[in-house]
Amino acid sequence: MATIQLNTERSNGTINKNIYGHFSEHLGRCIYQGIFVGKDSTIPNVNGIRSDVVEALKKIKVPVLRWPGGCFADEYHWEDGIGSQEQRKRMVNNNWGGLVEDNSFGTHEFLDLCEQIGCEPYINANVGSGTVREMADWIEYLNSDSDSTIAQRRWANGRKEAWDVRYWGIGNENWGGGGNMRAEYYADVYRRYATYCRNFCGKDLYKIACGPGGDDYHWTEVMMQQIRQLVNAITLHYYTLPNGDWENKGSATDFSLEEFYSTLVRAQGIGAVIKGHCDIMDRYDPEKKVGLIVDEWGTWCDVEPGTNPCLLYQQNTMRDALVAAITLNIFNRHCDRIPMANLAQAVNVLQSVILTKGKEMVLTPTYHVFDLYQAHQGAKEIDCFVQSKQVGVDRWKIGQVAASASEKDGVITVTMANLSADQGTEVMLRGTLARQVEGQILVGYMNQYNDFGKSTLSVEEFHDYQVRADEVAVALPACSVLSIKIQ
Ligand code: AHR
Repeated sequence: MATIQLNTERSNGTINKNIYGHFSEHLGRCIYQGIFVGKDSTIPNVNGIRSDVVEALKKIKVPVLRWPGGCFADEYHWEDGIGSQEQRKRMVNNNWGGLVEDNSFGTHEFLDLCEQIGCEPYINANVGSGTVREMADWIEYLNSDSDSTIAQRRWANGRKEAWDVRYWGIGNENWGGGGNMRAEYYADVYRRYATYCRNFCGKDLYKIACGPGGDDYHWTEVMMQQIRQLVNAITLHYYTLPNGDWENKGSATDFSLEEFYSTLVRAQGIGAVIKGHCDIMDRYDPEKKVGLIVDEWGTWCDVEPGTNPCLLYQQNTMRDALVAAITLNIFNRHCDRIPMANLAQAVNVLQSVILTKGKEMVLTPTYHVFDLYQAHQGAKEIDCFVQSKQVGVDRWKIGQVAASASEKDGVITVTMANLSADQGTEVMLRGTLARQVEGQILVGYMNQYNDFGKSTLSVEEFHDYQVRADEVAVALPACSVLSIKIQ
């Protein structure tokens, strides 16, 4: 048996809806084929953007979308991606397989995508190989409501009204692919770039500096020492490799029980890493003015057999669903410091919520977790103390139940995952009076996934609970993610 004790009097604050954000890079088949098929495609589209994908993303209320990378951002020159699509420059995508990028999906197409989804754009500027002027011009092109020559270029390309893009990333992984900089050097570079991030339309930009990869606490320390007054947030990237080894990451679908648990334990490791960075940030910024944005997270497995290793295409099982549940619960609990997170990546790359093949589309188990967690967007986080036994194999042990809770409009939502591959458990949910209860669940076996033409996993209604005087007793099946709504 497990218990979840809610304390509605204690809260870390509001869960920013942007914690449920996504990431779309010019990598593999994420943008091309996954999102953008061109307006002449036989796949239903609006201005070349797939309608099925837009509808699916709208359904989970994607709040914010990051673009154009990732590593790609630090080689991207935005002016190559505006104007007539036929005349755009062709570039080699050096980061991702050396394929030729025809720039047919550029600034206008991305902003159109965000408008179709109804989400905020988050644009990552090029610091590694770009210039300050290039970035400053991009901001002016997007946001200026003046009649400057740059704004007039936007008009000439079909958009009179300024877009007012608020979220700006200043570089990506500048400790690695974004220029191999030292923290001290990047901090100075950031100061320079940030100076020219001008505000237009009377609104302040939200400036996001490159933060640490994983547990690089030195990087965070330097950012907080040197640029905390000049940033709104710093980023964190954290990937879960099933085997913890870049040379042999492990299959996305064909894994052992031991790899199932090692993946979940490694995913849970993000909690300690976030705490490590938060402890440093708290020393410099006890008022929590600077956010920690986890703008790349998720599982990173070996690519599907027979696919190009540079395109990072992987399937997505119930194990990924549990990784998402563990991670989103942790983000909810840290909502006082985490204002945004972006799963890598939205379509056809890494831990995607959507996979496509030609005109077909599959919603992955991870997609369904985002569906189940929707109610947390913008809700007040509430304290939730979980007690459960350890499950796992050998050194890979983890608490059987992971959970988080929030409250909005008089409804308490508790999301919980049973991390055991094969043991159900009873969960006693305490700390609130329940008059009306509703449940929805995603349940399967650890290697189960949705495939083209055979999707067997989806969200189902859940009734396996009993409402008692002061508790709700839930029969939580093995390998499942449940959302319970109580009022
Ligand atoms: O998401 C794939 C890549 O992972 C991104 O381009 C980069 O930022 C990270 O290393």
